[in-house]
Amino acid sequence: MQQKNAIDEVMRFNKKSKIVVLTGAGISSESGIRTFRDSDGLWENHRIDDVATYNAFVTNPAVVWSFYKERWLQSNMVSPNKGHNALVQLENHYQDKFTLVTQNVDGLHSKAGSKNVLEMHGSLHRCYCTKCRAKMAMASVNMDAEIPNCPSCGGKLRPDIVWFGEIPYYLYEIENALKCCDIFILIGSSGMVYPAAGFVMTAKLMGAKTICVNLDKPDNLSFFDEFHQGKSGDILPSLVAGWIG
Ligand code: APR
Repeated sequence: MQQKNAIDEVMRFNKKSKIVVLTGAGISSESGIRTFRDSDGLWENHRIDDVATYNAFVTNPAVVWSFYKERWLQSNMVSPNKGHNALVQLENHYQDKFTLVTQNVDGLHSKAGSKNVLEMHGSLHRCYCTKCRAKMAMASVNMDAEIPNCPSCGGKLRPDIVWFGEIPYYLYEIENALKCCDIFILIGSSGMVYPAAGFVMTAKLMGAKTICVNLDKPDNLSFFDEFHQGKSGDILPSLVAGWIG
């Protein structure tokens, strides 16, 4: 059995392997960013319905903006950690056979140096106009205003965040990557929010090996072939070193 696993491992982790990594809030927690559902997570102190839906924005844009402004300011002050850095190494090794999908909006993967990053839930570093749809960097907007306005048309700006009830970005690209990947790796996500929580099922159905690196058991654990329990900053560097040989 052990020999079979060893052969399996060599066959899957080789230079031709296609890899999809999905990250969640857990990978950024060692950078000082709170997760959503752990104790003291963001959803313990805020109601999703008050800050993370389009209806909340229409009803009380000032409250929604205050929530995202605070998170944006924080994300500017933190640095990537060993988990983010390990994924840069993995991408450097696998190059265009590597796809990084993240549910995170903090921009830390790009800050670490990852290039092919699909931010499926948007980004704290961008906003767009609800009137003319122009997208812009958060840093270019007057953030002193309670509800920032579009510099071109004066319309109300909103954070470029995919809220509950909205369709995530890059679903077409993600599905294509999942359908042809050899290895799917989930890092730091509770596996509770769909469609991301279902990506492992697509990858597994298409024959990929599935690996999970998480502090706690995620809700979708039964779909993983391997589970490495612990902090991604502690675990990932040595796992990646082993994978890239
Ligand atoms: N290393 C690895 N895993 C960790 C670490 C760590 N250092 N710290 C926490 N975790 C794990 C927790 O055990 C938990 O399972 O990360 C997971 C975080 O889960 P959530 O808070 O639910 O975050 P996430 O899965 O990314 O949430 C998905 O929900 O609210 C929405 O849009 C938001 O993108 C977010 C989505």
